[in-house]
Amino acid sequence: MPDTNDVLVRAANVTKVFSSRAGEVRAVDGVTLEVHRGETLGLVGESGSGKSTVARLLMGLQPPTSGRVLFDGHDLATLRGRALRTTRRRMQMVFQNPYGSLLPHYSAAGNVMEPMRLHDKGNKESRRAEARRLLDLVGVSPRFADLYPRQFSGGQQQRIAIARALALQPDLLVCDEPTSSLDVSIQAQILALLLDLRTELGLTCLFISHNLAVVERLATRVAVMNQGVVVEEGSTAALFHSPQHPYTRTLLSAVLPVRGGV
Ligand SMILES: Nc1ncnc2c1ncn2[C@@H]1O[C@H](COP(=O)(O)OP(=O)(O)OP(=O)(O)O)[C@@H](O)[C@H]1O
Ligand SMILES: [Mg+2]
Repeated sequence: MPDTNDVLVRAANVTKVFSSRAGEVRAVDGVTLEVHRGETLGLVGESGSGKSTVARLLMGLQPPTSGRVLFDGHDLATLRGRALRTTRRRMQMVFQNPYGSLLPHYSAAGNVMEPMRLHDKGNKESRRAEARRLLDLVGVSPRFADLYPRQFSGGQQQRIAIARALALQPDLLVCDEPTSSLDVSIQAQILALLLDLRTELGLTCLFISHNLAVVERLATRVAVMNQGVVVEEGSTAALFHSPQHPYTRTLLSAVLPVRGGV
């Protein structure tokens, strides 16, 4: 059955099992999850609960062991060639460690131009102009466009990584702990930037974070994972104010012990 039009990406009963010499790990175990157009879905849960694996499955970076991932109604496993490339460019990711995710021997502009080059978008001149525009948009002065990633601070590096993620005008932006490696003051700036961009560009976001205060601020809906399973999901307000599942309550009380107090 086709997805309703407001669902951009849907994981349908998706499981991911990793096998190693130590045995099998069910990193994701029968997850069904939808990201609706225009929303920011927050994904929370303790370390190892399967959040990043869900992100990679939704992005089509890893195939599920079973179940299906549908992007705009198309099963990622059945897409080939041109259709796969076109779909790939519609989803982009921002990672925890910006320096590790940037190409060290490419300038800031070069990093932003690279996805455009790989997808044959425009020519070198137009790509350079677009890279400078995007750097400006994320708050990196185009004057610094020719500097290398190591010459920027962590916060600036993450801005460059965000500019690169925007280079192909994605519909879905997956942010996996995008501020965890940054200083607290810089975290706030990057979050403000993501909020602005989301509104300005009408982005749909999957936002993974350990920081529940951040998720409460950014997400429209939240899904809670524990041991590979989504144990609860709901609107941000409902989930934070009246969590239903014991695990969600534990998670909230562990991080926000004074919630409801002064
Ligand atoms: N490539 C892999 N090979 C083997 N096991 C893996 C692999 N990737 C993830 N896992 C395991 O799957 C489980 C879920 O990992 P995942 O990285 O998705 O968790 P997470 O919720 O993102 O954790 P964190 O908050 O620490 O980033 C963990 O037990 C992890 O060790
Ligand atoms: Mg992770």
